[in-house]
Amino acid sequence: MEKSFDEQNLLERKVTQLETRFAQLDQLDHDSQHNTQFDAIPELSDLRVENTKLKYRISTGMTSILHSVKQLFGTAIREAYPMLTNAPLLVTKSDHADYQCNSALPLSKYLSAEKRLPPRDVANTLIAHLPPNPLIGDVVVAPQGFINITLNKEFVSNSILNVVTTGVHVKPLSDKQANNRVVIDYSAPNIAKEMHVGHLRSTIIGDAIARLMEFVGMDVLRVNHVGDWGTQFGMLLAHLIEKYPDYKTNTPPIADLQAFYKESKKRFDDEPDFKARAYNTTVRLQAKEAEMITAWKQICEISRKEFREVYNLLGVSQHLIERGESFYHELMVEVVKDLEQKKLLIEDEGRKVMFSTDPSAPPLTIVKSDGGYTYDTSDMATLRQRIHDEKAGRIIYVVDGGQSQHFQLIFNCGTLAGYYDPNTVRVEHLGFGVVLGEDKKKFKTRSGDTIRLRELIREGFERSLAKLIEKGRDKELTPEELKAAQEAVAIGCIKYADLSHDRNHEYVFSFDRMLDDRGNTAVYLLYALTRIRSIIRNANLSQDITEMAKKESKLDLSHAREYKLAKQILRFAEVILQIADDLYLHTLCSYLFELSVVFSEFYDQCYCIEKVMEKGVQKVKVNINRIILCEATARVIETGLSLLGIKSVNKM
Ligand code: ARG
Repeated sequence: MEKSFDEQNLLERKVTQLETRFAQLDQLDHDSQHNTQFDAIPELSDLRVENTKLKYRISTGMTSILHSVKQLFGTAIREAYPMLTNAPLLVTKSDHADYQCNSALPLSKYLSAEKRLPPRDVANTLIAHLPPNPLIGDVVVAPQGFINITLNKEFVSNSILNVVTTGVHVKPLSDKQANNRVVIDYSAPNIAKEMHVGHLRSTIIGDAIARLMEFVGMDVLRVNHVGDWGTQFGMLLAHLIEKYPDYKTNTPPIADLQAFYKESKKRFDDEPDFKARAYNTTVRLQAKEAEMITAWKQICEISRKEFREVYNLLGVSQHLIERGESFYHELMVEVVKDLEQKKLLIEDEGRKVMFSTDPSAPPLTIVKSDGGYTYDTSDMATLRQRIHDEKAGRIIYVVDGGQSQHFQLIFNCGTLAGYYDPNTVRVEHLGFGVVLGEDKKKFKTRSGDTIRLRELIREGFERSLAKLIEKGRDKELTPEELKAAQEAVAIGCIKYADLSHDRNHEYVFSFDRMLDDRGNTAVYLLYALTRIRSIIRNANLSQDITEMAKKESKLDLSHAREYKLAKQILRFAEVILQIADDLYLHTLCSYLFELSVVFSEFYDQCYCIEKVMEKGVQKVKVNINRIILCEATARVIETGLSLLGIKSVNKM
């Protein structure tokens, strides 16, 4: 049963009050253990029980208002027109009001001739069937039948107070029965090769999506599908064994794995004998000969160190687990057997291929003519493993758009093979465009080499410090604060530039643009946030703001700009839940940017702290309502940035 909004609000308040009392009693309980005069406090254990029960009954958090309005109108349509089972439910944000419902027009066409009414009358019928709720304040029908909806101010005011008293949480939309296990495949660089900007994008986007999914209550598994099992290993290992014959006892001193890769490749291309030995080494590695495995592990470890360095600089979640192609070796054997049994493989010039249902698409190569497996084979195995063993309800592959056909084929063939049912498991390729240099050409160094990520990030650190110094911040901040700001800006600007563009488009990597503090950039947002934080600090509150908000019964939102800001704050849930569905993170960036613009408009006209003369003495008057609005704004920006993987700072 859905709880009514009133009941929900009441419960949320009750939990907050209880939690305050609970903390006080906990302190008392703690003190009593050092003071034999006190015995156990019976009230405490009762409260604990009551609190657990309450917590069980509610899940606190912001709701998507758009979704709630939709639900209300959905109910109204069902009640008013039970015979129209497929009635269109059209609710959107509105320029004329807060939201609008456009269902009356199509509904009027659906009604049978004898019941037909003009759209305006249909709209009024819908309004008459709206369930009672605290959310909608006013509804006005336009002559054409559009319903303009404005929110109830009291609901907005209560919701803002909740943000400050209970924190920024978003209530998930999904029902409790749904499988909430999500596997996210991202980053995935290749061993012994340079991690390039494509991997950087995958890492940044994947990390943010994983954070967001966890935030809305999903059970997330982060998988780093590194390329650690290709045929290139034969060549690398053969060269390693010949160059460092004592590799079993002494770790080879390879400082530059890319140079080592190039050396091996040159020999592979120039020396036919070496080439033959390389092929033989691949066979020995795939047969898992102990010596080969030792050498292979050494190469992987050198690469892994480099990747880790990049991940640490970027602050990528520690939960990203490495499960490279080699992890699926045995599973690939099973997949091949399985596909053969299901008669899905076709012999083609010595290869074994599998066709999808798309007659125009090429087939997947499952077994090569030399008996080896391919990227296709490994992805059929990952798909099967993630569904069978990981019990995923959703799988997201964060890989550049260039691989879109590969994934379409894998998903199509995976369904054909019965590995999953698209109606119950959601399997998606989250693609993205290429990164361009400022010359609008593929992002490369001047000599045409792949850009090294560590160097790129290091440049970000230098440029960010230069920018802070240019703004004279080094004179204002302590060395620690300056360092924190430098890091937040450097990493923040790289991530934000990536995330703030529609991911399907290519984007131009330009530090100048990223570090601009005037546009929709990380720098702008970080500054906006520190400004809000400093307004709150300057209010010199005598008490913790959360405690103060708990005591307020109502937030005054009489100024138009206060109200506009409050409503913008509350849109957060709607934006987050939309991204959890469509995976377009740039909408979160636009939302945060818009929020900080709306905040500036508010701050322009609404004094938060005012110097007033009282009986000839100058006094500082703090408007607590507005400070609470500042706090709610700051918390939403902080939460939003943290979901994007961007650290915020108190001073900058
Ligand atoms: N290592 C691959 C590359 O660099 C990406 C792997 C993505 N994940 C996957 N399951 N195919 O192109």
